[in-house]
Amino acid sequence: MSTKRVLVTGAAGRVGRAAVRGLVARGHHVVGLDVRPTPGLPPGQSVVAPLSDIDALRKAAAGVDCLIHLAATPDDARYPRGTPPDDGDNFLSELVPNNVIAPYQIMEAARVLKIPRVVLASTGQVIGGHLLAGNIPVTAAHPYRPRYLYAATKVFLEALGQVYATEHGIEVLAVRLGWCPRDPGQVAEIAADELFQDVFLSPGDAGRFFAATAEAANLPPFAVVYATSRARHTLRYDLSDANRLLGWGPTESWPTGASEFA
Ligand SMILES: NC(=O)c1ccc[n+]([C@@H]2O[C@H](COP(=O)([O-])OP(=O)(O)OC[C@H]3O[C@@H](n4cnc5c(N)ncnc54)[C@H](O)[C@@H]3O)[C@@H](O)[C@H]2O)c1
Repeated sequence: MSTKRVLVTGAAGRVGRAAVRGLVARGHHVVGLDVRPTPGLPPGQSVVAPLSDIDALRKAAAGVDCLIHLAATPDDARYPRGTPPDDGDNFLSELVPNNVIAPYQIMEAARVLKIPRVVLASTGQVIGGHLLAGNIPVTAAHPYRPRYLYAATKVFLEALGQVYATEHGIEVLAVRLGWCPRDPGQVAEIAADELFQDVFLSPGDAGRFFAATAEAANLPPFAVVYATSRARHTLRYDLSDANRLLGWGPTESWPTGASEFA
């Protein structure tokens, strides 16, 4: 296996830290970009900048084999939305700049710098309606049934990736991630619900998954895959495409690694 040069955005976040760890463990050269320093990387490989700093983004991305884009606002501020005047809506304040404009800047950087592969962090929330309706296991072929505004931005993200794959020849892999909890409150929510346990994604499985996305020899121009740990009760997401394209399969299940935050 050849060593890859990989840029991970959102590298200091919950999934980002797991991805960095998985990539470093496989010997890859990783640069992290986040608004805060990336744990586990030396300062020279940890770029502290917002994605709106286009110069910093392009400097960090120059020459990489794979760009793994995780930085985002990772959920709605409130679901369901409150009532006026306290709607609690983060669409214009966070979701549009971080989840719509920033992905455009990522794909533009990939186009201009001729980065061959981009991995985009989507979410199972884009097909959340199927999960709730019991249309399982959900595959990449199921039509979108987004849960809410955050999920709608991820539908855009996937469509954006498809545009750049088709028009600019970049390999784009959109990953509908399961639930890798960010805090003890989320761990408690998962502990209380069998469905959530089935879509749990452990940090260890996430790390090995993202290493596989950088290592896979050939990918189709555009693909959508799911990434979760092993279902505890019932298979909710079809993981066969991830296995076929990346040679990856989960080895852990809820609650392994669930309470690992820092
Ligand atoms: N954790 C999950 O269960 C889960 C599930 C589905 C999808 N996702 C997606 O995975 C990705 C990572 O999620 P997470 O759970 O690690 O979230 P997180 O909030 O823990 O990490 C996100 C990181 O991105 C950084 N960031 C956000 N906006 C930025 C910007 N404009 N410029 C630079 N850095 C910025 C934050 O500082 C943070 O470190 C997101 O795209 C999220 O939508 C996560």
